[in-house]
Amino acid sequence: MSSLPPVALAPAPPGDLAALIAPVPPLTPACTVQQAGERFLEPAVAGLLSLPIVERGRVLGCVTRHELMMRVYMQPYGRELHARRPVTALMNAAPLVIAVDSAIEAAGQLIGARIQSPITEDFVVTDAAGDYVGMGVVLDVLRALEARVGEHTRELESAYRRLKASQNQLIQSEKLASLGQLVAGLAHEINTPLGYVQNNVEMVRNHLPAAAETLAAYAGVLDAAGGDDATAAQSAQRLDDALAAFDPALCGDLASLLDDTLHGVHQIADLVASLKDYSRIDQARSENVDLHGLIESALRIGGHLLRRRDVQVRRQFGEIAPVTCAPAQINQVLLNLIGNAAQAIEHDRGIIAIRTQASGGYAMIAVQDNGKGIPPDVLPRIFEPFFTTKPVGQGTGLGLSICQQIVQAHGGRIAATSTPGVGTRFVVALPVAGRSGARA
Ligand SMILES: Nc1ncnc2c1ncn2[C@@H]1O[C@H](COP(=O)(O)OP(=O)(O)OP(=O)(O)O)[C@@H](O)[C@H]1O
Ligand SMILES: [Mg+2]
Repeated sequence: MSSLPPVALAPAPPGDLAALIAPVPPLTPACTVQQAGERFLEPAVAGLLSLPIVERGRVLGCVTRHELMMRVYMQPYGRELHARRPVTALMNAAPLVIAVDSAIEAAGQLIGARIQSPITEDFVVTDAAGDYVGMGVVLDVLRALEARVGEHTRELESAYRRLKASQNQLIQSEKLASLGQLVAGLAHEINTPLGYVQNNVEMVRNHLPAAAETLAAYAGVLDAAGGDDATAAQSAQRLDDALAAFDPALCGDLASLLDDTLHGVHQIADLVASLKDYSRIDQARSENVDLHGLIESALRIGGHLLRRRDVQVRRQFGEIAPVTCAPAQINQVLLNLIGNAAQAIEHDRGIIAIRTQASGGYAMIAVQDNGKGIPPDVLPRIFEPFFTTKPVGQGTGLGLSICQQIVQAHGGRIAATSTPGVGTRFVVALPVAGRSGARA
């Protein structure tokens, strides 16, 4: 085997493609065809389809195994005719050359554009100065690309799983955030009845000693009857004094104060019951859920939002069958819609109309407001997570995206129509039978 003059190789810098480079000693232009043929037989280059021809670091071209076979070894007298000729006679002077710092994907693209089928040559790798570094095997690049695609697919799958998990977390955290708002609203709601309950109780307590004294004075008068005059006069005086401080007619007022108090206490109990319904953070589906009951509960809980602008609520409830759903979640949907509607009303003639009707196996709930409406270019975006037109700190932009997730998880649909300056209507359609086996 003839020995070729060794060519000093520039060290391959670390990089994407660098890992795949075979630092093959190149042929020189002085090599003969015979010597090139012998190089191809060396085990070290067994996997290579072509060998580079390099002079003082510069790549002149490549000679391929295929060319040698076809033009020399498989031709009659080919060996005799060509063996002593310089290898440059069979050289491809325009081989595929790729810079060592290329990304595998870029190398793959170049290979795809340049190399034809069947693949008969590999590619030459050069450094930044254009000097020869080594050879790259086309198949190695294809394998590396395949591995990378597999890796990307796995990354995408795991990103998808993480996204799904964080979506569920978002539903929970939005729920907690709205629970916070709800508690603040409820505190406000409870404060009003609590104020007059306290006031009434204080009044009753203040009057009670005088009432007790009056009763005792009457008892004194009764005891003194038939006794001596001085005792009778004393008892009568005590009764007069007591009556001056407490007119028995006040008892009627006290009774109505206590009635009001009882009413206030019932109101507070109702609010607390709504809170208990809402705060069941369970997602369990229940059968036979009365949507009208859920609407009333959402209106009670969101009451403070409506009273802020004295918004009127109009109910047009149709005949709808009980629905299979997760009541706490549907409550969340209704609260979000009512909250959005109330926030969209910027005048003091606000009306929110809530209509229900049955249609083809679905229970439909429409929430319509006469607020500022949604411009046509904004409407397609309102269900996107984090889309909000509200000032920073006021809206998270999650309300509607969560409504949509919940409704879709129930096998239902939610849609909006709006006319700017006139109002907006959201329609939620829930399948009466629920979605079999689905969990939100
Ligand atoms: N009834 C409505 N009238 C007018 N615009 C609305 C109405 N409902 C929703 N929008 C528009 O859709 C956007 C997105 O609503 P979404 O409930 O998702 O988020 P948000 O209300 O901005 O924030 P958050 O619900 O977190 O407080 C709102 O910013 C608003 O521009
Ligand atoms: Mg909202």
